[in-house]
Amino acid sequence: MYNENPTIDRLEKTIDEQRQGEALMLDETTTDGKKFYIESYGCAMNFSDSEIVSSILATEGYSSTRNIQESDLILINTCSIREKAEHNVRQRLRVFDKVKKGKPGTLVGVMGCMAERLKTKLLEQEKLVDIVIGPDAYRDLPKLIATAEHGDKGVNVILSREETYADISPLRLGSNGVSAFISIMRGCDNMCSFCVVPFTRGRERSRDAYSIVAEAAELVDRGFKEVTLLGQNVDSYKWSSPDETEHVNFAQLLERVALVSPELRVRFSTSHPKDITDEVIYTMKKYENICNYIHLPVQSGNSRILEKMNRTYDRAWYKERVESIYRILPDCSISSDIITGFCSETEEEHQDTLSMIEWAGYILSYMFAYSERPGTLAAKKYEDDIPLEVKKRRLSEVIKVQARMSKESNKRDLHKTFKVLIEGDSKKSDLQFKGRNSQNKVIVFTKQEGYKKGDYCFVKINGLTSATLLGEIVDGHE
Ligand code: 5AD
Ligand code: SF4
Repeated sequence: MYNENPTIDRLEKTIDEQRQGEALMLDETTTDGKKFYIESYGCAMNFSDSEIVSSILATEGYSSTRNIQESDLILINTCSIREKAEHNVRQRLRVFDKVKKGKPGTLVGVMGCMAERLKTKLLEQEKLVDIVIGPDAYRDLPKLIATAEHGDKGVNVILSREETYADISPLRLGSNGVSAFISIMRGCDNMCSFCVVPFTRGRERSRDAYSIVAEAAELVDRGFKEVTLLGQNVDSYKWSSPDETEHVNFAQLLERVALVSPELRVRFSTSHPKDITDEVIYTMKKYENICNYIHLPVQSGNSRILEKMNRTYDRAWYKERVESIYRILPDCSISSDIITGFCSETEEEHQDTLSMIEWAGYILSYMFAYSERPGTLAAKKYEDDIPLEVKKRRLSEVIKVQARMSKESNKRDLHKTFKVLIEGDSKKSDLQFKGRNSQNKVIVFTKQEGYKKGDYCFVKINGLTSATLLGEIVDGHE
């Protein structure tokens, strides 16, 4: 769920993809006391972490600002997933350095996935930052700020096996007041050979199911209408009570959250093809408020490449999972992540990815050229031998097929009526609302009296733009 791909910027997707580098702030801020500025990159998990950090800072008396010049503490929540993501962060650090020079005493902190990897470089060689803090150390931030205020560097990049921040109620940053993320687990144990995440975010651990349900209930009380349960691999969620009498898997957690309120839409991301069970799919079927949308990254359509990627499934297994989804939930939409030009990928193997996009009928995909990451299994074991031009050409072919599939899927929606959750005004006009259907497609439609942000309405689709469905409000389901 990342996007650095200019060709898909036009697509409306889940909020996080549009928010790269966004400076986030709280709805309500106080004017006295110290101020922090926070900029976030990468996946939804990182954005969710920024909300945890904001909560920790608010407890310390800090308030948030969007104006970098007036901040006492500048934080950048970083992503390491591809080289380009790291490059962007380095550029931003140069800008922060200028701000710091204009206002001595301002502290700059690097948090998130780059922290562990680059701590020495950032602190010693470039002297750009005062605080380096890894994803499992956020509780330590006040202490590290104090250290930095005394002129020393504040560093904690220790990864934990237990930390889930279960007891911290995240402060919703830049929220539309309708949708919120709930982090249900941290880390990843899968060791896909291309991926740096297991190294930057550590071992997988699941958060207390009761604290997740309590967070969802609190959001409902505050008027929120949609939650997205977040984890690198939600299907391997597994929580046991301390006395080991209660065990909760992902399907059971989904059910508990769905039961919080029938008015609350429940989404989740990301699913792993090796772990998604029929129990999860049947739970989705059982509850109308669990959305019919699954992000099920295939990465490659070829079994040999999947094996080299250490994805632990092959093409046939993946197809079987997709067939089960469509069999149990005929209205479900599926999206994917795809990597082109992984080590030793041949043209024929690349063709398997193209045919998989067509076969699976993804409504959208996040598509990337392979970028070797230091320390990963692939970097150690395989040669990054596909030339950049070839990776890029294959990427453009993947993008083209996906664009056709997205368009075909949108065309099939013409004249259908969907239940839509209104998220707010459309980008282009305040005479129009923007919302999503259960399948996660964005729909823009003319406002009608009696409807407001956060309401559900039924919308009949009567047009399409390149990436958005257009429609009009109709009475009830037709
Ligand atoms: N190169 C390119 N894409 C990557 N991803 C993860 N690691 C890499 C890499 N080294 C993609 C995968 C993953 C998504 C979050 O980012 O498709 O699912
Ligand atoms: Fe990375 Fe694979 Fe874990 Fe996703 S499942 S975070 S791609 S190791």
